[in-house]
Amino acid sequence: MKRYHVTTFGCQMNEHDSERMKGMLDSLGYAEAAAAEEADVILFNTCSIREKADSRFLAHLGHAKRLKLADPTRVVGVGGCWAQSVKDEVFERFPFVDVAFGPGQVHKLAEFLTSDSLTAQGFFEFEGFTGHLPGKRAREFQAWVQISVGCNMACSYCIVPSTRGREVSRPADELVEEVRALAADGVREVTLLGQNVNSYGRDLRPTRTSFAELLERLDAIDAIKRIRYTSPHPKDMREDVILAHAQLPSVCEHIHLPLQSGSSRILKAMRRTYTRERYLDRVALIREHVPDVAITTDIIVGFPGETEADFAQTLEVCEDVGYDSAFTFVFSPRRGTEAGALADGLVAHEEKVERMQRLVEVVQRRAAERAQRFVGRSLDVLVEGTSRTDASRLRGRSRHNKAVNFSGLAAPGEIVPVQITGATSQTLSGELSLLAAASRGR
Ligand code: 5AD
Ligand code: SF4
Repeated sequence: MKRYHVTTFGCQMNEHDSERMKGMLDSLGYAEAAAAEEADVILFNTCSIREKADSRFLAHLGHAKRLKLADPTRVVGVGGCWAQSVKDEVFERFPFVDVAFGPGQVHKLAEFLTSDSLTAQGFFEFEGFTGHLPGKRAREFQAWVQISVGCNMACSYCIVPSTRGREVSRPADELVEEVRALAADGVREVTLLGQNVNSYGRDLRPTRTSFAELLERLDAIDAIKRIRYTSPHPKDMREDVILAHAQLPSVCEHIHLPLQSGSSRILKAMRRTYTRERYLDRVALIREHVPDVAITTDIIVGFPGETEADFAQTLEVCEDVGYDSAFTFVFSPRRGTEAGALADGLVAHEEKVERMQRLVEVVQRRAAERAQRFVGRSLDVLVEGTSRTDASRLRGRSRHNKAVNFSGLAAPGEIVPVQITGATSQTLSGELSLLAAASRGR
């Protein structure tokens, strides 16, 4: 039996594409190998969001080259955003690569593997959602569902619109069917994926379905206990979506709302289409309807031209909002983007590093403060497995998407009440509620 190995870089969309890749390879009769050394087909699902993502992948590719030299019958495939961003150039730069394909084009990989082709091939057309492949899920009770592909925004720093194409929504009926089938297969939590999830459905004809309507239809599926989504765009964070969090039992109390910068001047240069005030207004509306919600974000430091005054405004928004956590990135110029063509270095490297340290300090301090609100409460935790730091304890996630380490007995996939006794900026700790333990012991 032939074996494959997939290395995945980048976002959850890529993780999900890799699951579909694995599901497709399984159905072709391949088996998964534990390491690339043992595989006949070595695949990379790549990312290009920042320079670091490129360089990490290129280091791995060197390893694949050595394996291919040792055994030329091996197939080396490169998929995803990096492949899409360089297209056929991949074969000039890395002649040992046999097949390359853009994000989501998993079915093209199948075509290549089942053909008798002896020449290298690249597949880089944008085709919308490509086929219904059986996903090979990491956990049986959690699943990703891709609700749209592509992105119609033009954020000046971002490579994604050029690697994933124009936005195409999948029909709502098809998504409801997919989630029903997942529920029947043991899934209790779904995470809806899209580059801009809350602009979902505007392109659907003849009947448009809004993102809020989609949430409502998925919430009606009984066995699905938790619905999450990523990422929304602040400009499309309308009241109907916010109300879905307040009114639909499965929609979790967590919203990831990428800020990027707290300065309206920089937001304009980033082409984010909202101002600092409009963003803060969205946060206020969210907190009005869902007071206990966890809000998380993405922030870029050192965008070309960011002054100390601009950066101070970002710090101020972080202080005011009090994020439950934040992903923070140093600006990385990307090929083919508007901001990538601006002179980088407008903000000196040391300055970027220093700003990042100050930002992380504020983010972590506020996250730690925010987390204290959970201490003394009982939270529903979806059990994921054993704790990473202490094998005698369990680990799971609260509806707020907080990692919770706790003592007690429960099986992965169960949702159990946990009494929270401690909180840091990153994790909560606690004990399985006695009541729950007793009722399950009966
Ligand atoms: N440089 C730094 N961070 C970036 N992001 C996207 N493009 C860049 C870039 N060129 C960040 C944004 C986005 C997250 C997924 O990655 O914050 O929300
Ligand atoms: Fe990376 Fe963005 Fe592509 Fe995801 S969509 S793999 S984060 S470049």
